[in-house]
Amino acid sequence: MKKKSPVSRSGRFNRGPAADVAAFSESISFDWRLWRHDIAGSVAHATMLQKIGVLTATESRAIIAGLDKIGKEIAAGKFKWKPELEDVHMNIESTLTERVPAGAKLHTARSRNDQVALDVRLWLRDEITSLLGEIVRLQRSLVALGEHNADVIIPGYTHLQRAQPVYFAHHLLAYVEMLERDCERLWDCYSRVNVCPLGSGAIAGSTLKLDRALVAKLLGFVDADGKVQLTQNSMDAVSDRDFAIEFCAAGAVLAMHLSRLAEDVILWASAEFNFIKIADAYTTGSSLMPQKKNPDVAELTRGKTGRVYGNLMALLTLLKGLPMTYNRDLQEDKERLFDTADTVRACVRLMSAMLQHTSVNSFSCLAAASDPALLATDLADYLVQKGMPFRKAHHVVGAVVALAEGEGKALNQLTLTDLQSVDKTFGRDALGVFDLTRAMAKRNLPGAPGTKEVAKQLARWRKLLS
Ligand code: ARG
Repeated sequence: MKKKSPVSRSGRFNRGPAADVAAFSESISFDWRLWRHDIAGSVAHATMLQKIGVLTATESRAIIAGLDKIGKEIAAGKFKWKPELEDVHMNIESTLTERVPAGAKLHTARSRNDQVALDVRLWLRDEITSLLGEIVRLQRSLVALGEHNADVIIPGYTHLQRAQPVYFAHHLLAYVEMLERDCERLWDCYSRVNVCPLGSGAIAGSTLKLDRALVAKLLGFVDADGKVQLTQNSMDAVSDRDFAIEFCAAGAVLAMHLSRLAEDVILWASAEFNFIKIADAYTTGSSLMPQKKNPDVAELTRGKTGRVYGNLMALLTLLKGLPMTYNRDLQEDKERLFDTADTVRACVRLMSAMLQHTSVNSFSCLAAASDPALLATDLADYLVQKGMPFRKAHHVVGAVVALAEGEGKALNQLTLTDLQSVDKTFGRDALGVFDLTRAMAKRNLPGAPGTKEVAKQLARWRKLLS
């Protein structure tokens, strides 16, 4: 007969689950990656159990040493995961107890329900921290690309139609701002992830006098002021995954931002725009068309947004209408959560690397930005400064544009006589409006793409990100 695992719940059952049930319900194939956090949680729990007298010092030492050894084996790829033991929690505890008899005391006043809630929170804390680091690196790449091309001007677009000239850096800094809000969202989410659920038991805590605060402190569940963060309701603690949903929601917004950056990169790299050139290593070729160089990193980043949105929807649906408290449904949270974390981290990292290997075609940019139609609004502002109501100025410049179009000329090729044929308000200085350098120097409102303001913003971000 096969030896029973020391963690088998065999008391109540005369046989284990059918093979297909076991295969259907196992989670070790994906939750094994929580091992580090599972062990950290168990070490803290054992330390606490010793303090309250459930474990002797010798027992707790043996348990911690045993867990430590298991951790080393897992890290070295030498640990044998057993699918019949369902999940990461039972795999680790079972091996521990085979080796260390006191291991049988480790699960005192603990359930996998609060254990898994703990593990996921610990894991997510680390993920958020590392994702924040990646986002900062992407921000730095954007700022660096802007700084290296500080005088490059491109058309800004609305409706994907040329609108007004902007510094290329201003366009990039728009993404830096978006990413900054993504960081804020993730930090905010972190504060709700960073709450210790251990001690909630299966649903109703424990009759034993656990020291929940000690466990929380050992695991770093403290706020910025060092105040211990404990879940305040055992049922809530084992049943909700709103913190994971929040992370997936913040991830979805981040992915949305990345998809827009990706789209801009794809457009800019096309022959039609030709604003940028992505280094070969960050593009791929076509198996059929020899001339092709495709911006796959950006395309995949745009495409992966779909699964990140899907993960959020999956988790929202998973939790919807779920009766209190823990239900096995909740096991389905992990793959979606892991996928969002892995996907957005990879996208942020690759986009950053790609931007570090992107150069700007300043000639194409200048050619596009020199389209005088981009300064039609400046011409209207000129009339406003002469006292004309803006609505009228808009109409007059519209007529000027029509005149130029009719004559097949660019706006700045019109003569003063042409302008005055539309409205007498135009003076000798009117055509000076089309001087791009001067036009850019004028836009210095806070947040505007003026020469001084963009330099100021670049410097602000450089400092913030250093
Ligand atoms: N693998 C399980 C999960 O991820 C752990 C909790 C199991 N709890 C239970 N009562 N069966 O949700």
